[in-house]
Amino acid sequence: VTERGETKPRLLHLACGDQAHPDWVNVEFFPHSVRYSFPVLGALFRRGARQVTSAGAPLRLADLRRGIPFPDASFDAVYHSHFLEHLDRPAASRFLRECLRVLRPGGVMRVVVPDLEVRAREYLAALEAARRGEQGADLLHEWSVVDIVDQMTRTDLGGEMQAWIDAGWPWRRDRPPAPRPPAARPGLRARISRLLVGPPTPERTGELHRWWYDSYSLVKLLRETGFEGPELRRLGESAIPDWKRYEFETLPDGSPRHPGSLYAEARKPR
Ligand SMILES: C[S@@+](CC[C@H](N)C(=O)[O-])C[C@H]1O[C@@H](n2cnc3c(N)ncnc32)[C@H](O)[C@@H]1O
Repeated sequence: VTERGETKPRLLHLACGDQAHPDWVNVEFFPHSVRYSFPVLGALFRRGARQVTSAGAPLRLADLRRGIPFPDASFDAVYHSHFLEHLDRPAASRFLRECLRVLRPGGVMRVVVPDLEVRAREYLAALEAARRGEQGADLLHEWSVVDIVDQMTRTDLGGEMQAWIDAGWPWRRDRPPAPRPPAARPGLRARISRLLVGPPTPERTGELHRWWYDSYSLVKLLRETGFEGPELRRLGESAIPDWKRYEFETLPDGSPRHPGSLYAEARKPR
């Protein structure tokens, strides 16, 4: 309850990445970092497992595959963006059941995932354009395969996709991927961390994608998990109060931060 007696919604932002917000309880994990793997030792490096980001946002460290570390019915809204596809299918179902558990009856979950349909259509269009020999289609065709496959198969951090992102993809789609400079020698802190917890790999950092969703399968999964009225939403459209104020999904110029995404919302039955 605020000073003026208004009730503030209790908001939970899971797998927030660099989007932690002071009005939300933010959850992330850093499995390859010393402070996460050894909380006591980690406290010597920095503060322990509960911390606050530089922007003053509360941050809770947790591996969401092991559940959501909050009691039943403790939030009015739960939000996760570009996280569900990082879980294999059994883990995704468990995670969505956990989202349902921590929501109050009538509470809303907003989920954002990359859209398989967008990629599949883009791939087919690029393939046909490349066969016709259209200018730029060769590059677009290669990108469209990287966009579908790389995050599921990469063995290096950032994968092949990083070089494309460095060249401006997917926003500007005209330059070939930039050759990546050889990796710099890790600094002292990184070397100590590697000794203690092993090297960061895509498996461990959680950057691998383990499934793809489209508008049909996402809505079906939400319904099967027990959510009520799953619905697709537009960018910026939400039942969460003041949604636009948080600017999680847009860049400063208003364009989507994750182009080609699906936005869906569903409620916990009352
Ligand atoms: C693609 S990023 C999305 C970040 C942010 N939500 C956004 O939309 O930009 C996926 C995030 O999920 C986090 N993550 C992956 N596996 C996780 C797990 N098991 N538990 C908690 N966070 C995890 C990663 O650390 C990463 O920050």
